[in-house]
Amino acid sequence: MTYPIRIVGQKTVLREFTQEDVDDVLGIIGDDKVTTWLSFDSRGRDEAIAMVRGAVERAQLEPRTEYYMAVTKHDDDRVIGFVRIGFAGVEAGKLGCATAAGEWGRGYATDAARTLVTYTFQELGLHRVSAAIGPENTASIAMAEKLGFAREGVLRDHVFTNGAWRDSVLYSVLAHEWTHQ
Ligand SMILES: CC(C)(COP(=O)(O)OP(=O)(O)OC[C@H]1O[C@@H](n2cnc3c(N)ncnc32)[C@H](O)[C@@H]1OP(=O)(O)O)[C@@H](O)C(=O)NCCC(=O)NCCS
Repeated sequence: MTYPIRIVGQKTVLREFTQEDVDDVLGIIGDDKVTTWLSFDSRGRDEAIAMVRGAVERAQLEPRTEYYMAVTKHDDDRVIGFVRIGFAGVEAGKLGCATAAGEWGRGYATDAARTLVTYTFQELGLHRVSAAIGPENTASIAMAEKLGFAREGVLRDHVFTNGAWRDSVLYSVLAHEWTHQ
């Protein structure tokens, strides 16, 4: 049986999404400042509803295919971002995250990613976590390097976003390398 996950980090709490989160999610995935760096274009309210519904439904799957977590501050349950690890490959997961633009630079994404990666290595037994990042996404690259991810190479024309193909730089960290818990 699946059960709701709640993980407390140093600056953030990672919890499951609920339908109440649609407005907060729209503030993130409907904002061009955020989505310009993501693999999809900005989305409207119907798509935010669908995104939250999909995350809620997939959280019930047994076994889970992903941990798509809402990120909140410690003292406020509103969603300020999301962090996701989707299972792909052999004992491997792909990391993705975003923070609402008004909250950038306060360490929330680094803390949320650190907390979820620790959980996937320690509790889920994954061996490898990777992140595919746009070459000009300096904030995300800084975060990956701060967390000890190694640069593996370039995925050519990896995503089609904002009307054009975009490369990704592939980063990864392995369980035995992880020292950030
Ligand atoms: C990347 C992102 C998730 C970082 O979120 P955040 O909550 O600001 O992250 P942090 O505060 O932990 O900062 C991580 C690093 O980003 C950089 N950074 C943060 N805000 C920045 C800004 N306004 N300008 C430039 N760099 C910035 C810093 O280098 C920081 O490292 P530092 O604390 O050592 O200086 C956020 O910028 C975002 O949502 N971007 C759009 C979506 C995205 O790129 N997602 C990742 C796709 S792979």
